[in-house]
Amino acid sequence: MKKILITGGAGYIGSHTAVELIENGTEIAVVDNLVNSSEESLKRVEKITGGSVKFYNADIRDAAALDKIFAENDVGGVIHFAGLKAVGESVSMPLEYYENNIGGTLTLLFAMKKAGVKKLIFSSSATVYGDPERLPIDEASPLSTTNPYGSTKLFIEQILKDLYVSDKTWNITLLRYFNPVGAHKSGLIGEDPKGIPNNLTPYIAQVASGKLERVNVFGDDYPTPDGTGVRDYIHVCDLAAGHALALKKMTAPGVHIFNLGTGIGYSVLQMIAAFEKACGKKLPYSICPRRPGDIASCYAKVDKALNELGFKAKYGIDEMCASLWKWQTLNPDGYKK
Ligand code: NAD
Ligand code: WQD
Repeated sequence: MKKILITGGAGYIGSHTAVELIENGTEIAVVDNLVNSSEESLKRVEKITGGSVKFYNADIRDAAALDKIFAENDVGGVIHFAGLKAVGESVSMPLEYYENNIGGTLTLLFAMKKAGVKKLIFSSSATVYGDPERLPIDEASPLSTTNPYGSTKLFIEQILKDLYVSDKTWNITLLRYFNPVGAHKSGLIGEDPKGIPNNLTPYIAQVASGKLERVNVFGDDYPTPDGTGVRDYIHVCDLAAGHALALKKMTAPGVHIFNLGTGIGYSVLQMIAAFEKACGKKLPYSICPRRPGDIASCYAKVDKALNELGFKAKYGIDEMCASLWKWQTLNPDGYKK
């Protein structure tokens, strides 16, 4: 059986997808330069699944390393997670983001072409919808971006569309994730942010564990039911299952585009309340000014993924928060001992 190569497979979404694929009987290999992750996550993947992961500690911008990986493995397709993802950092380091995300993807595509592997799933993001014109957001909504990170996603989508126009044997799926949260039910793998988390739920989890003092709620004057920002939070294990389904449905060439979300929007205050329920304590928070660049509301129209992939998120916010709290409690310092 051919293997699936997972770039960025030691990271948050990649490690959960690795579990899902191994549990479905798919053989995998992982390439990751560990710039934002630890090899320990892959040891935990092996512990959860009882399977084995062939790991290459390499950079996807290293063409020779990629050629070696394709030569050593009978790869049938690639799931491409590798990339830098911090919005704020991308504003201060745009060149590094363009070089890593776009440069890395180009090197990967050349290596795939050389190896004759033309099946690819790319991690895109709801960020490509910018400030959405309509809600819920469907896949045909206008695309725009508000920061260099988002621009890397949009440019890579365009590169992949152009590649397909040039060679109609490519089979490409763009998965636009909404807000991935939560952790595997074992509590063995989860999100391990470096330094102070940028994203809401890891921040809340660190307030609950006593590492951070209070949640800063970025604005309570948005045109939303309680004035705080509304997002479509999706359990990372649902997201992982979405990749396995997408892979199974990639039987014909083309560029296939899907939102992966739940279709339901929750506010910041609703997420804090759900986390209080999960951890059993009151969590202090302060209302702060809006974070520059944030939008009021963002949630997905999920019909296309349901109708064409059979994808429907199974988990709600209670399970998202409970699994994150378990991961946080069992691993207060992430993968560090
Ligand atoms: P992550 O940082 O945990 O995982 C990305 C992995 O890629 C890391 O393990 C990192 O070490 C690796 N990597 C980065 N540059 C590399 C390079 N040049 N060569 C090899 N490995 C490299 O992030 P994640 O949350 O798991 O996100 C995975 C993908 O999904 C990313 O492309 C991200 O942009 C996208 N995405 C994430 C979110 C989110 O909120 N987490 C939302 C939408 C899209
Ligand atoms: C969620 C809500 C904040 C932190 C980002 C990227 C996006 C995608 C997912 C990769 C917002 C509010 C947050 C805090 C807060 N990543 N908030 N206090 O901004 O929706 O999306 O991650 O593709 O591209 O932009 O996620 O978790 O940062 O914020 O009040 O300390 O929580 O204002 O309303 P966001 P987030």
